[in-house]
Amino acid sequence: MSCAVCPGSFDPITLGHIDVIERAQRMFDEVVVAVAHNSAKNYLFTDEERLTLAREAVAHLPGVRVELITGLVADFAREVNAQAIVKGVRGSADYDSEMPMSLLNRHLSGVETVFVMGEPSLAHIASSFVKELARYGGPYEDMVPLNVARALKEKVEA
Ligand code: PNS
Repeated sequence: MSCAVCPGSFDPITLGHIDVIERAQRMFDEVVVAVAHNSAKNYLFTDEERLTLAREAVAHLPGVRVELITGLVADFAREVNAQAIVKGVRGSADYDSEMPMSLLNRHLSGVETVFVMGEPSLAHIASSFVKELARYGGPYEDMVPLNVARALKEKVEA
């Protein structure tokens, strides 16, 4: 059984993330989406909200499950016996940040990172843009799954 981990903050999960998860799902028998912590970020959604929104958004994909992790992605990848960590790359800025992280994760765990190029028509999507649009009344509904659009609306109206 091949297994891949798709880690991220997923604050919140977007259609760009789902595109990458679907690509991973076509390559691996099992995909574990790891809702992780980036200590440099202040999250809009709580851990439980990020987990629930991601779970709902990928519920239609067989072989995909979502877990919340509080520690290192490298440790988690080893725990679930993953052969790979899968990350999407939208452009050179993603490459610049992901490359050192992939080397660190391999150093820590021996697990390789596989980079996939996402669908180009989704390359403008980022959780940070979606949150900014939601805060300032811009349209974001076509960048996120329906459950996330609803949750964002509630969050910014609260
Ligand atoms: O969606 P993001 O915020 O770009 O994801 C970054 C994330 C959460 C994958 C990264 O910060 C991470 O791997 N955090 C878990 C802790 C960890 O393993 N840190 C070591 C790598 S710097």
